Amino acid sequence: MIRIQTVAGMKAEARRQSAAGRTLGFVPTMGALHEGHLSLVRESRRTAAVTVVSIFINPLQFGGDEDYKKYPRHIERDAALLEKEGVDVLFLPDASEMYPPGFQTTVEVVRLQEYLCGAARPGHFKGVATVVLKLLNIVRPELAFFGQKDAQQAVILQRVVADLNLDVSIRIMPIVREPDGLALSSRNAYLNPGEREAAAILSKSLDEARRAFEGGERRAEAITARIRDIIVGEPRARIEYVETVG
Ligand code: PAJ
Repeated sequence: MIRIQTVAGMKAEARRQSAAGRTLGFVPTMGALHEGHLSLVRESRRTAAVTVVSIFINPLQFGGDEDYKKYPRHIERDAALLEKEGVDVLFLPDASEMYPPGFQTTVEVVRLQEYLCGAARPGHFKGVATVVLKLLNIVRPELAFFGQKDAQQAVILQRVVADLNLDVSIRIMPIVREPDGLALSSRNAYLNPGEREAAAILSKSLDEARRAFEGGERRAEAITARIRDIIVGEPRARIEYVETVG
């Protein structure tokens, strides 16, 4: 696995591989890798000749009061995991490489960013769309892999690709979960054992919503209310939002 830190170096390597006729698969991440990320890497390895993974904790997608400074950073551990998976290229730019002085161009997916996490985290999806567009321009992969766990992110990025006519096929992969149902997430490391146990209420409430839907319930408000009731029953949980969307 080769490590590349500069945009120019990454472009040169990607263009070299493409010129040799190899299909490029790309998995953008912010590191602190877990089995969720690795499931994307494995799918890229299975379907593309060359797999590029980026690790870049993107300051543009963190709000001022969010966890940019304390976001987990484990580069050597991550690199060892990726090496074991047979990744070809690890792209590790730093913030000044991605956002040099004078940087000021951003992309916004105007309507889709107004809902759900977009409403709770102003500016977040502008940061995500901008960095992913930059990364896709740098690597120019045929295939790019994202997780269903970040469902709104996946929809927004598919919109960017369609609206801006990018030559990439976006593949959305299923959510990888812990045995108790909690979706794997780098931020789960913030939870103490009690909070970690309580967090399982999220997937329990979604399971219950699925059961209600499968049982014929089609009223979005009724499903939302059921989810709320279940989460409210867990005193260690605090609801940011619950919405049922079609
Ligand atoms: P990050 O949170 O590191 O996630 C990188 C990719 O892994 C995303 O596509 C995410 O949906 C996927 N992923 C995370 N947990 C998963 C799980 N449990 N199961 C399946 N896939 C999972 O998402 C980001 O980084 C950033 O916003 C990024 C797209 C890299 C732009 O900065």
